[in-house]
Amino acid sequence: VGVTEYLEYHRGLLADQTRTAAYRDAIHRVVRPGDIVVDLGAGSGILSFFAVQAGAAHVYAIDSGHMADVAQLLTTHLGFADRITVLHAPSPKVELAGRADVLLTETMGPAGFDEGILGFVLDARRRLLRDDARIVPSRLSLFAAPVMLGPDYSALIEWWSKPRYGFDLSPLRPLAANAMQLAHIATSAHLAPGARIIDAGLARFASDYLQGTARFVCERAGELHGFALWFEATLAPGIVIRNREKRRSHWSQAFLPLEQPIAVKARTSIQLQLETDDGRSWEWQGRAARKTFHQTTRAALPGCDTLE
Ligand SMILES: C[S@@+](CC[C@H](N)C(=O)[O-])C[C@H]1O[C@@H](n2cnc3c(N)ncnc32)[C@H](O)[C@@H]1O
Repeated sequence: VGVTEYLEYHRGLLADQTRTAAYRDAIHRVVRPGDIVVDLGAGSGILSFFAVQAGAAHVYAIDSGHMADVAQLLTTHLGFADRITVLHAPSPKVELAGRADVLLTETMGPAGFDEGILGFVLDARRRLLRDDARIVPSRLSLFAAPVMLGPDYSALIEWWSKPRYGFDLSPLRPLAANAMQLAHIATSAHLAPGARIIDAGLARFASDYLQGTARFVCERAGELHGFALWFEATLAPGIVIRNREKRRSHWSQAFLPLEQPIAVKARTSIQLQLETDDGRSWEWQGRAARKTFHQTTRAALPGCDTLE
């Protein structure tokens, strides 16, 4: 990744005012003068800077990537070098002399749990934090809604069915249909109102394996193409960020396709069960209109278990 590419990614995060200002407000509410703070996945260092503003005695800004060097540059430039220690390492490899009062992290992907936040927080709680540490976000929820994507389903999945340049590429269709896709999904594509399917209090959850179920009742007839996923993160009481609306934040939504669309009518009931092992793989199964589905992202790669 070139420097402009990752700077541009982080500029996109900083330019998402809703996200960044919500973190600032939450940090000013949660961090108390004198606190020791861990910023897990510090990126540009922005959350660490807010923590210093809020009176933190010391902040450990951890980033596994080269953004650590960028955070160090800004830390020195802003005159915070005595208050912020930048650590260029993955958080599971970091050791601290003492335990911290507060953990800040923004390691959520479009499906909330898809960047491994649970494992990072679990490890930090075990080794880096006091038992009563405050965590921002305090709660992370995943929502799902059954969707009819229209031409987007054809573009993402059906595209593989037709010969291209004279070659039959159709063996790749089931791979695409079992992948978690990223898509900007309008709420007008929802066949039924969304439902909270997974909910984790970050100070208390005990396992990074998550499972949830939801039942939807279609409000109109159409074709069920799969499920839109989005998250809600409670950063502090009353401060919630979400990516439900198309293009309202820098996050897209996630889309779990069905291998075959299912025709539904108004009042058709749809059941969904969703499982994930800390975002490494996802499994979705259920039934709609007497048809069942059972899919997994483990089927999205052709025997490439060791491929990242
Ligand atoms: C979405 S960015 C957030 C950056 C910054 N905190 C912000 O809010 O603008 C997530 C950052 O976390 C880093 N990261 C993800 N998991 C990490 C881990 N376990 N340990 C250290 N850094 C991690 C990535 O390299 C990336 O820079």
